[in-house]
Amino acid sequence: MSKLFNPFKLKNLQLKNRIAMSPMCMYSATDDGRITDWHQIHYASRAIGGVGLIIQEATAVEKRGRITANDLGIWDDSFVSDLSKFVENIHSLDCKIAIQLAHAGRKCEVTNERIIAPSAIQWSEKYPIPTEMTKNDINEVIIAFTQAAKRASLAGYDAIELHAAHGYLIHEFLSPLSNHRIDEYGGNTINRTRFLKEILTEIKNVIPSNMPIFIRVSASDYIEGGLNIDETLAIIDIIKDLIDIVDCSSGGLLSPRIDLYPGYQIGFAETIKKFFNISTAAVGLITTPEMAEEIIGNQRADLVLLGRVLLRQPYWPMYAAHILKADFTYPTQYIRGKY
Ligand SMILES: Cc1cc2nc3c(=O)[nH]c(=O)nc-3n(C[C@H](O)[C@H](O)[C@H](O)COP(=O)(O)O)c2cc1C
Repeated sequence: MSKLFNPFKLKNLQLKNRIAMSPMCMYSATDDGRITDWHQIHYASRAIGGVGLIIQEATAVEKRGRITANDLGIWDDSFVSDLSKFVENIHSLDCKIAIQLAHAGRKCEVTNERIIAPSAIQWSEKYPIPTEMTKNDINEVIIAFTQAAKRASLAGYDAIELHAAHGYLIHEFLSPLSNHRIDEYGGNTINRTRFLKEILTEIKNVIPSNMPIFIRVSASDYIEGGLNIDETLAIIDIIKDLIDIVDCSSGGLLSPRIDLYPGYQIGFAETIKKFFNISTAAVGLITTPEMAEEIIGNQRADLVLLGRVLLRQPYWPMYAAHILKADFTYPTQYIRGKY
């Protein structure tokens, strides 16, 4: 019996299988962050293909929190109506959907925005030197995340994922390489985690208590003096009561050479899961049904997140069910295409 096709329950989130679409920016929103036909077709295809969960791409909680001018946004109430129709459509395809709430921080490439970061350290020489955030800026961004979470819940999303990875704003606070603050938001691990903890605390006040919170972390910066798995464990220890599942990615703070190989990040998901007895998601170069089955079967993670393979093969779960001899409910319209 395939374990990959076993259902999964986390608070109010009930998934038909353990396969999720990893968040992937499409840079295809309108210039003011609105969803387009591209998103409708792109996400619906993966829902029809059978993933249990879609994690919608990084969606900016502030205009200056976009990576590019064509990122999706959720920075005011006017976004809710279009997003709720979109969510309804994904639900009608028997699939659940989470939204990844994000702020690019110093990695914002949008011109004419005031670029902010914990410290005035540019990401690379191609990027502007960001403005060091004042306490007021910090409060504004915490409110922006909180309001965005509230809107996501109103729009009907099944879960929220906070993007605390890949060198974007929250990760910039977490890593000692990008956070040189000398106030209560910098210095030791507790201080560098304060921004994230305050965001989570506020979000929990505005979303239903049974709505799960995912957090995507970069478990290692792969650089001496940066985050490593030990400090990531210390960070998660501080926020563990405020989150439901850890999505374990890595890198992105700077551009070190990373040794890439199939499943190179699975060890992070496994370590965090075992250490805290918390749910985790594994991601990164997971491409075959056998590999995905091994991860779930050996309880190395609770969910398998697929990125680029789903860009090539939107119907990967149908194929995986065939290979693993698992039951798979085809959409009625596609029954004649059954393997
Ligand atoms: C086109 C593209 C866009 C991405 N955008 C995001 C994003 O919005 N948020 C995020 O956390 N990761 C993003 N990622 C990283 C993926 O979610 C995933 O972690 C990574 O591609 C590794 O998984 P894979 O080997 O299955 O592709 C993106 C990756 C790709 C290829």
